[in-house]
Formats: sequence, structure tokens, C-alpha cells
Amino acid sequence: MESLIGLVNRIQRACTVLGDYGGDSALPTLWEALPSVVVVGGQSSGKSSVLESIVGRDFLPRGSGIVTRRPLVLQLHKTSEGQDYAEFLHLPRKKFTDFSLVRKEIQDETDRVTGRNKQISPVPIQLSIHSPNVVNLTLIDLPGLTKIAVEGQPDSIVGDIENMVRSYVEKQNSIILAISPANQDIATSDAMKLAREVDPTGERTFGVLTKLDLMDKGTNALDVLEGRSYRLQHPWVGVVNRSQADINRNVDMIAARRREREYFATSPDYGHLASRMGSEYLGKILSKHLEAVIKARIPSILSLINKTIDELEAEMNQLGRPIAVDAGAQLYTVLELCRAFDHIFKAHLEGGRPGGER
Ligand code: GDP
Ligand code: NA
Ligand code: MG
Repeated sequence: MESLIGLVNRIQRACTVLGDYGGDSALPTLWEALPSVVVVGGQSSGKSSVLESIVGRDFLPRGSGIVTRRPLVLQLHKTSEGQDYAEFLHLPRKKFTDFSLVRKEIQDETDRVTGRNKQISPVPIQLSIHSPNVVNLTLIDLPGLTKIAVEGQPDSIVGDIENMVRSYVEKQNSIILAISPANQDIATSDAMKLAREVDPTGERTFGVLTKLDLMDKGTNALDVLEGRSYRLQHPWVGVVNRSQADINRNVDMIAARRREREYFATSPDYGHLASRMGSEYLGKILSKHLEAVIKARIPSILSLINKTIDELEAEMNQLGRPIAVDAGAQLYTVLELCRAFDHIFKAHLEGGRPGGER
């Protein structure tokens, strides 16, 4: 049976094609009902680094200023073997095996919609990555929270970014991956401020502490990692990403993961937590949690799917048959997809294998 996460990924892509991505679309917003992991943090907190580490690939645009200017919906699919490849929803049937071209396409596709004047846009870019080195997971990368606009950007961008990020983390179906750097006081973390506001009990928030290796000598982050500074329902995860020097030297991501493991295993401060630290562990617990959340939401997703089927059928009837136009064909495809999902979800509900791996 198809994994629940894979199934939700397919619905999410169908929604995007129909213009339903949470914004002010007129369509029944099935998108809203789909659980996913949303990445939030201040600029340079290490968001991109954490994502690349979870993926085990170097593929995100980087630079100074506001680099991420559209949501990036990143769907990870675990394959049993074979070469890694990436695919964009806006470029169907084109397989990318060179990940530097993935980076370039994200940049180009961002500019295509936002223009070169560095605006932001809520229209998501959808990217799927297939690899034996990933877990099944959906992550949404958002623009970094910031306090000042850079040259050439309108001042309103600061508020626009906060509103966009807020619209994602407010959704009760969002799992919040809140990234804070260990070399700054956790009390000043933009990510935690927002997370506390929308999820005061910490049920939906996974706290991630980056840059442990950059803390002042003689200090450590145990108060945060052991939940004394900031309590969350889920345990905190510390990570050590590649430094800027590592990036400049092109240190390979798989090697970086190995070094991160060694860092924790040999650390006098964190050795006792080593099995629960690092980006690989983070990917695993997120995948497991996302699957559990989807499972719990199946009934509400099903009822929205059925509502969507009704509305699509009504719309089809209005268009009249036979339908030759593209719009009709697209509606028809989505209708068929909804019916298929209805079937598969019901099978999962009726006890399909737990975990639902294929
Ligand atoms: P973003 O703006 O939140 O996406 O942050 P990036 O992932 O681009 O990271 C900003 C800078 O911090 C980059 O130069 C990274 O190399 C560096 N960085 C991120 N995480 C770590 C870490 O855990 N340790 C070290 N030494 N540097 C890090
Ligand atoms: Na932050
Ligand atoms: Mg970034």
C-alpha cells in the first residue's frame, strides 16, 4: 500500500495545480486539511542547512538578504535503491540528477513569479526528491523572519514575511519546526516567539538548536536541550550543520552527517544525548510524527475529499459533457484522483498495515 505521506503528497500536488494553496483560493480548501512540517526561523538561523542535512543533498539557493521568497514545498520520497533525482511540479517529466541545477531552477522560478525586485509571493514551488537516503517527509521552507528590509526591498516586506509565516504556523495541521541558533539567547529567538504565540502548549512544535559548535567555550546548551529553558511536548534536537568554511570547501553532505554523528558521540557535554541528536535523527522523528498526525486526521481529510468530489461534480455538470476543454480535463483528473484517495484512505482506516510502507 502507498505510504500515507506519499498519498498526502499527491493530494497536495493536485491542490497546487488547482490553485489551492491556502491563500484566498475560492476552491474548497483541501490543502488546509493536509498535515505538513513547516520550517520557521530567523534569517541565518540555519534553516536551509537543516533542510539540506535532512535531505542529504546540497540544493538550496543561498546568499545574503532574503533568499527564500516563495514557500518551497519539499516532498521527500524514500526509494529502495537507485540514483537520487528531483522533480518540480511546474516542470513535469523533467528529472534533475544534478542538484546544482535544482538550486538554479528554484532561483529562476522564484524570480519568475516575484520579479527581480525581491518581492515575496505566497504561491508555492513544489519540489519532490526521490532517494534511498531520505525518509518519507513533507517539509515547507518559508522566508526567514527578519527585522529589516535590505536595499531594493520595500519596507513592507518585513510584515509581509511575518504574515505569510504566521498563516502557515497557525494551521492546526501544521507541525512547526522551529529553528534557533545556539549562539544566541533562546529568549530572543524569532522562531520560538512565533511558536509560543500560535502553539502555547508546545504540542505542535519541534525545537531545533543549530550551531552548537559555535557556542562560547565553557558554555553549553543543556538547559535548552533538556527542556529546562523552554518546555515543549516533544524533545529538543540539537544539530551541527556545515559551517560557511565547509560550504566554501564543498564538504559533501553525507560526510557532514557523519561528522555530526561523531561530534555528538564524542562530546563531553552532549554524549549522553547522542542517540537523540543530529539531523538524521530529526528526519526520522519528523517522518514518524507526520505519519501519526496524518493517520489521526484521516476522517477529516476524507470528509473534505468527499466535499471536493461533490463540488467538482457540480462544476463538471455545469460545464456540460462531453468536455473537450483543458479546464474540464483538469477537473476530471482531480475528480478521479479524489475518488482514488477516498478508496486508499478508507483502506488505511480499515487497518491497512501500520506504517503503511509500500
Ligand atoms: P538560513 O538563513 O536560516 O537558511 O541559514 P543557513 O542555513 O543559510 O545558515 C546561515 C549560515 O550559518 C551559513 O553560513 C551556515 O554555514 C552557517 N551554519 C548553519 N548552521 C550551522 C551550524 O550548526 N554550525 C556552524 N558552524 N555553522 C552553521
Ligand atoms: Na531565530
Ligand atoms: Mg535559507
